[in-house]
Amino acid sequence: MKHNVNLYLSIILLLCLGLNSYAQKIIISTGHSALVYHVNKQKQLEQTYFGEKLQDSAAYRNANTYELPALATGGATYLQEPALEVSHADGNMSLQLEFVSTTVKTEDNLTETVIRLKDPAYNFFVNLHYKAYQKENIIETWNVIDNQEKGDVILHRYASAFLNFPGATNYLTRFNGDWGMEAQMEEFLLPNGLYSIQSKLGVKTVENGLSSFMLSKQKLDDENQGEVFGGSLAWSGNFNLQFETFKNNSRMGDALKVICGINAYASDYRLKNKENLTTPHFIFTYTKGGQGQMSRNFHHWAIKYGIWKGEQRRQTLLNNWEATYFKFNQDTLVNLFDGAKKLGVDLFLLDDGWFANKYPRDNDKAGLGDWEVNKRKLSNGIGYLVKEAQNKQINFGIWIEPEMVNPKSELYEKHPDWVLKAPNRPEDLQRTQLVLDVTNPKVQNFVFGVIDNLMKEAPGITYMKWDCNRTMSNPYSVFMGKNQESMFVKYTQGLYHVLDLVRAKYPDLELMLCASGGARVEYGAMKYFNEFWASDNTSPFDRIKIQWGYSYFFPALTICNHVTEWGKQSIKYKLDVAMSGKMGFDVQVKKMSVKDLELSKISLENYKRLQPVINYGDLYRLVSPYLTNSASLMYVDSTMNKAVLFAYNLTVSEAQNYPILILKGLDPKKKYKIKEINLLPGTKPKCADDAQVYTGESLMNTGLKWYLNRSETSSVLELEAI
Ligand code: DGJ
Repeated sequence: MKHNVNLYLSIILLLCLGLNSYAQKIIISTGHSALVYHVNKQKQLEQTYFGEKLQDSAAYRNANTYELPALATGGATYLQEPALEVSHADGNMSLQLEFVSTTVKTEDNLTETVIRLKDPAYNFFVNLHYKAYQKENIIETWNVIDNQEKGDVILHRYASAFLNFPGATNYLTRFNGDWGMEAQMEEFLLPNGLYSIQSKLGVKTVENGLSSFMLSKQKLDDENQGEVFGGSLAWSGNFNLQFETFKNNSRMGDALKVICGINAYASDYRLKNKENLTTPHFIFTYTKGGQGQMSRNFHHWAIKYGIWKGEQRRQTLLNNWEATYFKFNQDTLVNLFDGAKKLGVDLFLLDDGWFANKYPRDNDKAGLGDWEVNKRKLSNGIGYLVKEAQNKQINFGIWIEPEMVNPKSELYEKHPDWVLKAPNRPEDLQRTQLVLDVTNPKVQNFVFGVIDNLMKEAPGITYMKWDCNRTMSNPYSVFMGKNQESMFVKYTQGLYHVLDLVRAKYPDLELMLCASGGARVEYGAMKYFNEFWASDNTSPFDRIKIQWGYSYFFPALTICNHVTEWGKQSIKYKLDVAMSGKMGFDVQVKKMSVKDLELSKISLENYKRLQPVINYGDLYRLVSPYLTNSASLMYVDSTMNKAVLFAYNLTVSEAQNYPILILKGLDPKKKYKIKEINLLPGTKPKCADDAQVYTGESLMNTGLKWYLNRSETSSVLELEAI
């Protein structure tokens, strides 16, 4: 141990000494990629390389002529979009940063580099942090902004990452969204000038688009090869991803500058003397292996480091939201438990409508904030329901929306000052509700108490669905008083404080992240959550594209897909679509036909048996629903012995041309037996190759003939090496 400490210290010392001569490079590398900086004669840090890792570190030379700051600062000599812009304590709005030192720590799979920068004229420091995950080929970066000046410094912009990409031709893929239509992919050539993906929604900030994106030099039409950069901002508040393109610019040349971080909109942040701010983390990867490899890098990283208990098997569940909405009582629920048992799911999830007495939660107009059980509906309390579920060998989960309040509630009557609401403005309700002021420590305790009290009352609860159903409008925090500037940021910090408390006390409680569907899906929140509700739109037809969109950045075990009554498609189609992520149901089992129930049971059994492959295997997207009228994806386990393939038709015409199904990720030398699953006994498989054995080489080159020939049909194949 002592030996190691000495080794680290000497590395740090060597780096500091070497860098003082301004000749040393700082190489931040993973197994496959490298980001390289050097310090120029003016002691400024510049990015000299970002791309594939090179064998010989001497090969990273500085061949650049143009401005490539490691972090563009405002008000000084860099005249384009800055990543960092401040007012010093004396009012000076210019910021310059010089290199001070660097430290590097290596531990197994992880290398952490910290580069310290300082304004030469002020005691103002910025530490650039980089965590390089070797195997996953991911870099996580953030900044710590440290004010050692005598007075307050105001941060006007404080991004997490600034990256330079040479060349003016860059395609951006973004993931647009709205309620019911989340994660819709769109790719286009970035225009000259400034383009941004941003959110000012306050909460549920990814409602109109994810904070994850891809960049490439060519159009992304090959999943399996080509340069791709993928980036994702881990922040649950307002964000801004800026792309500034220069063409033949005298100072910039042909280049793209990317700035990712908190949205500066209405968010000046005051740092008192000796205070610092840690910016959100920005996670990125670079690969020459196409979008497929980009996704697999993110998935591997997320499972190991990015989400709560990534390596733990997720529970299949039956939810009652679409089955009952607000209309249920104790008996209805206990009957539904029987349905859960019949299906074979692990858990029953009780949704909205179980709480509040003075203003009962019988619809979305009242009761939010009053988190005691509604005695009329559930006379024996939550503890009784947990026990009843346990008697039937199923776990019990419950819905909460702890950051919100209906004006018609006892909470609002008692604490009108706990609500975010601008003075002299009308109450602007969305879904008849308002946002609680989570910047206020008393409100933070209250929000924590919602979870804590439920767990105290019914310790058998194993799962919670944490919802959030409005954005912020006319916001004002009574707690923050005249100093409102950083309210948006302080809200998210307050939320993270609560989530830290929840995780410290309830590490085993499984949490589903929900915000009217997928309006909160980003890695700042997913650090605390096991999985997320992808969309309220459960029509399998729309779901294929929604799930496809999420799959670029989020692993299958996080994407909750439920079989529901939505959509006129067959139960088979619904089951096959839901099964490709984290499977669940939201149905009245007793209303199902015998055949539908039987097929559901068979498919769920298959899912549970194959969950290690579907949830932890490598994803290969084979046929895109964005480019064709069909879709296909497959998962292969790490031993390459098992694979599961999903195939779907969307709306196809009679004269449809179908793709050949070229499989991926298999061992070319192994022989695989093909079996079509999710079929009722006696049903003829659709796949003509069912029960055939082919080598991986054959499947990955000759492929399989597309075998679905009507609209909205589907099939699942299991492949096993023999
Ligand atoms: C919105 C969620 O997205 C739904 O799944 C459901 O939980 C409702 N809220 C309940 O009010």
